[in-house]
Amino acid sequence: MIILVDFGSQTAHLISRRIKELGVECQIVTPDEALEKIRSFGLRPQDDRGVDGIIFSGGPASVYEEDSPTISKEIFSLGIPILGICYGQQLMCQLLGGQVKPGFKKEYGPAELVIRDKGKGGSLMEGVPSGITVWMSHGDEVIKIPEGFKTYGVTKTIPYAVIENEDKKIYGIQFHPEVIHTEFGEEILANFIKICGLKIKKRVIDKSFVENIIKDIKDSVGNEKAICALSGGVDSSVAALLVHQAIGDNLESLYIDSGLMRDGETQNLKKVFKNKFQMKIRIVNAQKLFLENLVGVVEPENKRHVIGKTFIKVFEKEAKKSGAKFLVQGTIYPDVIESAGSKHAQVIKSHHNVGALPEKMNLSLIEPLRNFYKDEVRKIGKILGLPDEIINRQPFPGPGLAVRIIGNVTQEKLEILRKADKIVQEEIDKTDFPGELWQAFAVLTGIKTTGVRGDERAYGETIAIRAIEAQDAMSANFAKLPYELLEKISTRIVNEVPEVNRVVYDITNKPPATMEWE
Ligand code: XMP
Repeated sequence: MIILVDFGSQTAHLISRRIKELGVECQIVTPDEALEKIRSFGLRPQDDRGVDGIIFSGGPASVYEEDSPTISKEIFSLGIPILGICYGQQLMCQLLGGQVKPGFKKEYGPAELVIRDKGKGGSLMEGVPSGITVWMSHGDEVIKIPEGFKTYGVTKTIPYAVIENEDKKIYGIQFHPEVIHTEFGEEILANFIKICGLKIKKRVIDKSFVENIIKDIKDSVGNEKAICALSGGVDSSVAALLVHQAIGDNLESLYIDSGLMRDGETQNLKKVFKNKFQMKIRIVNAQKLFLENLVGVVEPENKRHVIGKTFIKVFEKEAKKSGAKFLVQGTIYPDVIESAGSKHAQVIKSHHNVGALPEKMNLSLIEPLRNFYKDEVRKIGKILGLPDEIINRQPFPGPGLAVRIIGNVTQEKLEILRKADKIVQEEIDKTDFPGELWQAFAVLTGIKTTGVRGDERAYGETIAIRAIEAQDAMSANFAKLPYELLEKISTRIVNEVPEVNRVVYDITNKPPATMEWE
């Protein structure tokens, strides 16, 4: 196992992903807890599950600033290999007697790395060509390396881009091997893993890989029963399918129809899971209860809580009837890190995931996707034969259309929004955009405005269209949809949804706006 000490890097998760892709377990820890955690795991080869190597991540601070994150020097006497990346390299140099100062110029982007020496063998740069492009993102730089270190690579501006203390197996690099823009980044990380005495076993997601996951589930569930909450989203769908393949009808999937779903969603789910995969699905119609609980609820966070609570209540009641011992959840790796990493973060929205069911339910968890990223989950889904419309489905918030209706939620408003949203989906699906958009949807703004229809005064609803491009959920840009497309959507909405007489386009990025309106 590799321990990744996170000094506040934006790419810590990416480093961890790269390590996992090479077939090695990676645990992210904070600098404060690092030594204690390493002691609890033990060191290899003495301890079976022990730590083989340590990586120090980058970070936004400067090592010479007061209160910048640091780590006890004790870590260098554990006798296992350490790799410092960017801030990690600078900190390691400072702690071991080197020197760091503010760089002449901040450097972000590509740089040419020249490798001077490859060492005695078993070096970090083994098999890496001499001139490669690497990615830099730093302000400070090392100006004096500690005793026992040698320089192996330089760039035009950085004399210590790669440093190594081969005897102690301590390595430092100024650039970021984890980002795709760094050539041979994977090889550099793989070399470090080999230096740690570990074997590279690249994770290839193919049929036999998926069969192994299924076998593991079978072994751990045995003849017991399991339940899952199916939402139709890609994660819960893939998790349920895997478990279904492992234990067949011993898995019961509950689909709670809150009435807050988009048009056709429940029917589609039935079609795929019941008809195509012959899964045992119980559709619980809880529409009335959700609407009753939402009466008069206007404040967005309150709305989210009411929906989350109602969902859990219905699920608990239904789950009891199933006699299940296991609960299947579609947790994926980013969820694991997000919930662990958000300790000090401010709550912007209480995200409600259909998967996030209470621990007190006394069910053992099966989370077959806990180690995977979204694109890998999609690959697994594809191997299992899940149709593209589910695999490539847009993210849809747990609280559903309720967070796209500003103000109180009623049956009438839900119907207006469903009709408008369906038009948005249909028109976008006819273009080349779907693959490029993170999401595209309609919002019922709750604003009524004056219009004119057939010479008569009209006073109707305003629909907003939101279409976004994003790489992750943290930031986004509004999509620059062509006016012709927007006009088509707007014309169809005002013609086909009589309650609406105005359509506007949301042209705000995230931040400062969020993707969903509530
Ligand atoms: P925001 O609105 O926070 O949304 O910018 C970021 C992404 O998260 C989705 N979203 C949710 N997903 N449960 C979810 O599973 C939720 O409660 C929830 N709220 C928002 C949103 O659709 C967007 O893709």
